[in-house]
Amino acid sequence: MNHCSTLKVLVVGGAGYIGSHVTKALAEAGYQPTVFDNLSTGLRKNLLPGTPFIHGDILISDQIAQGLKNMDAIIHLAALKAAGESMIFPEKYATHNLTGTINLLNAAVKEGITKFVFSSSAAVYGEPKYVPMDENHSTEPINFYGYTKLEIERLLNWYDQLKGLRSVCLRYFNAAGYDIDGQLNGLEQNPQNLFPIVMETIMGIREYVPVFGEDYDTPDGTGIRDYIHVSDLAKAHVKALNYLETEDKSQCINLGTASGLSVKEVLRVSKEHSKIDFEIRTKPRRPGDPPKVLADSRKALKLLKWSAQHSDVDTIVSTMLKAYQS
Ligand code: WQD
Repeated sequence: MNHCSTLKVLVVGGAGYIGSHVTKALAEAGYQPTVFDNLSTGLRKNLLPGTPFIHGDILISDQIAQGLKNMDAIIHLAALKAAGESMIFPEKYATHNLTGTINLLNAAVKEGITKFVFSSSAAVYGEPKYVPMDENHSTEPINFYGYTKLEIERLLNWYDQLKGLRSVCLRYFNAAGYDIDGQLNGLEQNPQNLFPIVMETIMGIREYVPVFGEDYDTPDGTGIRDYIHVSDLAKAHVKALNYLETEDKSQCINLGTASGLSVKEVLRVSKEHSKIDFEIRTKPRRPGDPPKVLADSRKALKLLKWSAQHSDVDTIVSTMLKAYQS
């Protein structure tokens, strides 16, 4: 049963790819979302008509204080997220992800806000020691991006103990797909991930799709990942808020499906749906890429009553194609 709420929620990073889907899901569930975004990668066109918007930055304390006035809860998705880039420019990631979040947490505490949903990542785990990975898997990030997410989870743990700030950290696996209703189609600029790269190749923006390694110990030799539809992710944020309204406890929860797709499967289904025989080139393995990453999402089912509904490869590919072709 869906719980109905009228909480006022500041969605920090709400104009981005995942944030815009979260904002839509919140409004549909009866929450009152306000988007706070610096538009560094977020897009105004990602906001559905009538969504309150504040153009602000978590690095500027006055702007956060303004944004948090009269809010009951925060969903924090604002971050830099390119794992490779984070190894070259860690300072950027330290400032935007760590300093920005500390500013936001301190402002939240000052305003007396006690409900906080955080966009965390499977990147907190690092190299999988077993799959599917549950929340008790060791956390040893292998890139600086993943380290920033883990450090924020630890900060949240302290703010829970010391300041009564209750949080749900949602550890996303591989987000993909576009709005199931086709209303959101602001495309990510300069994407680094497999699905948008495939889409850009279909659209003729890129010449070919590089396949990073065909010699992994997997059935077809290519990397396997747990792709989760962004509309499913969005729904989980609504459920995480529901959880914080009824339970006085903080949690870290995986969001995935436990079923994996290989790079080759993604390419095959994308060719089928688009009817375009785009070029594929085999390349060396990308440093730091494990063969197989899968989420154990039983905790999400148990605590949030959430499971993926739209994360099959056909729905992911068809919703992405629709967004890219519109
Ligand atoms: C998926 C698979 C690649 C591109 C990253 C971050 C992770 C998380 C999600 C935020 C792998 C292969 C990719 C290409 C390819 N981000 N690939 N050709 O690396 O699983 O996860 O995004 O929290 O922290 O590291 O996602 O989409 O880059 O790669 O063959 O052009 O596709 O080797 O097997 P990844 P991805």
